[in-house]
Amino acid sequence: EKGGYDYFMLKEIAEQPQAVADTLLGRLTETGEILLDEVRLSDQDLRDVDKVFIVACGTAYHAGLVAKYAIEHWTRIPCEVELASEFRYRDPVLDRSTLVVAISQSGETMDTLMALRHAKEQKARVLAICNTNGSTIPRESDAVLYTHSGPEIAVASTKAFLTQLVACYLIGLHLAQVRGVKYADEVAAVVDQLQEVPDKLRTVLAAMEPVRQLARDLSTAGTVLFIGRHVGYPVALEGALKLKELAYMHAEGFAAGELKHGPIALIDKGTPVICVVPSPAGRGMLRDKIVSNIQEVRARGARTIVIAEEGDEAVLPFADHVIYVPRTPTLLAPLVTSVPLQVFACAVADARGHDVDQPRNLAKSVTVE
Ligand code: M6R
Repeated sequence: EKGGYDYFMLKEIAEQPQAVADTLLGRLTETGEILLDEVRLSDQDLRDVDKVFIVACGTAYHAGLVAKYAIEHWTRIPCEVELASEFRYRDPVLDRSTLVVAISQSGETMDTLMALRHAKEQKARVLAICNTNGSTIPRESDAVLYTHSGPEIAVASTKAFLTQLVACYLIGLHLAQVRGVKYADEVAAVVDQLQEVPDKLRTVLAAMEPVRQLARDLSTAGTVLFIGRHVGYPVALEGALKLKELAYMHAEGFAAGELKHGPIALIDKGTPVICVVPSPAGRGMLRDKIVSNIQEVRARGARTIVIAEEGDEAVLPFADHVIYVPRTPTLLAPLVTSVPLQVFACAVADARGHDVDQPRNLAKSVTVE
């Protein structure tokens, strides 16, 4: 049932091109419209939205963090992302015109369920992004957009994460189209580009042997740090979470600009730092800023592993290792840059002799608060 793979996680990583294609299927028209009739929110409901809250846990929360950049940029609606376990305890400001998006692979996560119940009590509209048909979170929500990643067995979320990102992009694009798009050309280009993601993922997956080799080399490191800016920041957080849960190693993700405000003191000779670099084509300034952050950590002895867009040679002088990924628009880049980090965590855990699919102390679905 593992389809020839040693672990479900490896199988699920390999299924990502198909999972993304399946989640897009039937939701884009030939003229670039997003078709979300299945989501039972009328265009008028969507026009009335004046604030979006995203609530989720763990990896799904990281998908939400990426979504915030996309939704705010495309729709100009303020969007906040909150850990579901914190949400209701701080009395958030919610009303009928608030859209609360609850993201959950299992649809049974108690923290997320309690956050959505709180939102409903406050009269907010709740839209679930979920991978499990008929589970509790979509049943209790006003509307649902299912991800079609297929069952995810490994405790570590991989293909569900990528399809959660796709679902978030679809919602952001749909909101933008319904409400009148500010960056019409950009939105149209993103719709086109989304359809190319499955092929790009195949390219990424075919080039992972150096990542596995690197993972074996670094499997005895005391700590691994991850840095990123903009949507690369949640990717860094996700890379660190994967390594913690699978390899039981100390790992942390940082916004690269924050390093100088404290965390750079952690850098010692040989400390591995994985750097997620955005496309120079999209927001060039952002790329240049992180390149200087990479220089800063390298000057203090870090071993730098740089994930960059193919052809970006500006990173080479500061990289001990480079992992190239295909060119992808900045906001969509997490779909490709997350994959080497999944492969890395899986290979480190394997090299350390861990049960990759069933890490200690963890359950696939967390049904207690
Ligand atoms: O089923 P959910 O998406 O609600 O689960 C949320 C988290 O528990 C989950 O993403 C967890 O962080 C994963 N083990 C991460 O790989």
